Amino acid sequence: LGKGIFLVAEQDGRTAGYVGCQTVLDEGYITNVAVSPDHRRQGIARALIAELTAKAGENKLAFVTLEVRESNAPAIALYTGAGFAPVGKRRNFYSNPTENAVLMTISLI
Ligand SMILES: CC(C)(COP(=O)(O)OP(=O)(O)OC[C@H]1O[C@@H](n2cnc3c(N)ncnc32)[C@H](O)[C@@H]1OP(=O)(O)O)[C@@H](O)C(=O)NCCC(=O)NCCS
Repeated sequence: LGKGIFLVAEQDGRTAGYVGCQTVLDEGYITNVAVSPDHRRQGIARALIAELTAKAGENKLAFVTLEVRESNAPAIALYTGAGFAPVGKRRNFYSNPTENAVLMTISLI
């Protein structure tokens, strides 16, 4: 417990986005990815996820997994493009509003 990978993207000295990943044994779990509205659609999230999965591989993680709201098409497109595949759902995982989560995973071995 207590280990993880946390990456920050900067542009012109300002924080543009970040991704966080907790690791337990050889599993990675992405806790959040966000890019500030001013910096979106420039490939920053794609670069953050690519760097994260590269570091996860270097750290011998077997896979990285995450949950995403079913309605979050931008994020699902981002993860699919990065090599994550849907592996299941968690019913009513989110509140405000209540919504299912799609569980997505990328295998690194
Ligand atoms: C999802 C989010 C992180 C994307 O960040 P971003 O830096 O704008 O994404 P990128 O520019 O790297 O885009 C990479 C790919 O993601 C997909 N994508 C990103 N934004 C999209 C949008 N608004 N609509 C559709 N697809 C989108 C596209 O496939 C895109 O590739 P393309 O630009 O070649 O079409 C950003 O919109 C965000 O912070 N959203 C709010 C927080 C959030 O929902 N986080 C995910 C929680 S699980």
